[in-house]
Amino acid sequence: MFDLTGRSAIVTGAANGIGKAIAEIFLQHGAKVLATDLDADDLSAAFTDSDECATVTGDITDASVQQQVIDTASSRLGGIDILVNNAGIVIAGDYETLTDEQWDRIMDVNLRSIFRLTREALPLLKKSGSSRVINLGSIMSDVAGPGLSIYGTSKHAVAGLTKGMAVDFGQYGITANYLQPGSIVTKLSAPFMDDPEFKAYWEAKAPIGRLGEAHEVAVAALFLASKEAQFVSGTGLNVDGGAIVQF
Ligand SMILES: NC(=O)c1ccc[n+]([C@@H]2O[C@H](COP(=O)([O-])OP(=O)(O)OC[C@H]3O[C@@H](n4cnc5c(N)ncnc54)[C@H](O)[C@@H]3O)[C@@H](O)[C@H]2O)c1
Repeated sequence: MFDLTGRSAIVTGAANGIGKAIAEIFLQHGAKVLATDLDADDLSAAFTDSDECATVTGDITDASVQQQVIDTASSRLGGIDILVNNAGIVIAGDYETLTDEQWDRIMDVNLRSIFRLTREALPLLKKSGSSRVINLGSIMSDVAGPGLSIYGTSKHAVAGLTKGMAVDFGQYGITANYLQPGSIVTKLSAPFMDDPEFKAYWEAKAPIGRLGEAHEVAVAALFLASKEAQFVSGTGLNVDGGAIVQF
């Protein structure tokens, strides 16, 4: 089950955390992967460019980087069967201190890049006949958190965008789904977890009783990427140890 042999995948934000774990699990299951990230040092530390794993460094909000990603996937991997729009950032702050620039940057990285990269990848995704789009939402695609109004808005919008993709792309055999991680131990969540109260809150919020690990989100991505998940589309999958359903 979940064999990705012969499949080609793009993973954005692949140098760290959840994206890195997704790229790794896809490679382990036989896929060829294009791993792309803004951070050149972290990307080269995570993946060596090879026949199985092409790497592209750049800011995924940049149209020319997006084009380079698509062109490299086409020339080096022979197409795109799986697109994982994972790159994301979080900026938190009291509502009255949040700036227009922060709004624009979060929306650019967390939302607009997904809209654009998926649009540019669509001709290749259509060719595959059984493609998968997997977007990174969050538990904040459903609920809100203190200081996280902009981030939460971007993640709610990822849910809406993914549902639209599922409706528009189904005719091409393409499924589109979004992952909803809870509190996962990564670089992104580290500054929040430095606060012992915050950490203890999220450990207790999950009935499983702990924070999650990036590879536990990657397993869910592997399922959504698989041929076996061909009738799963337009939905969000919580990977949060049950945090969101516990009152
Ligand atoms: N960690 C969590 O608790 C958590 C929870 C819910 C959702 N998520 C989502 O999962 C995704 C991955 O998060 P993570 O925790 O692994 O984060 P992370 O910070 O560990 O890794 C994110 C990667 O994306 C890259 N990146 C950021 N902006 C980029 C850009 N403009 N262009 C290219 N690459 C860029 C970073 O360099 C980094 O390597 C994000 O969309 C995040 O919102 C994370």
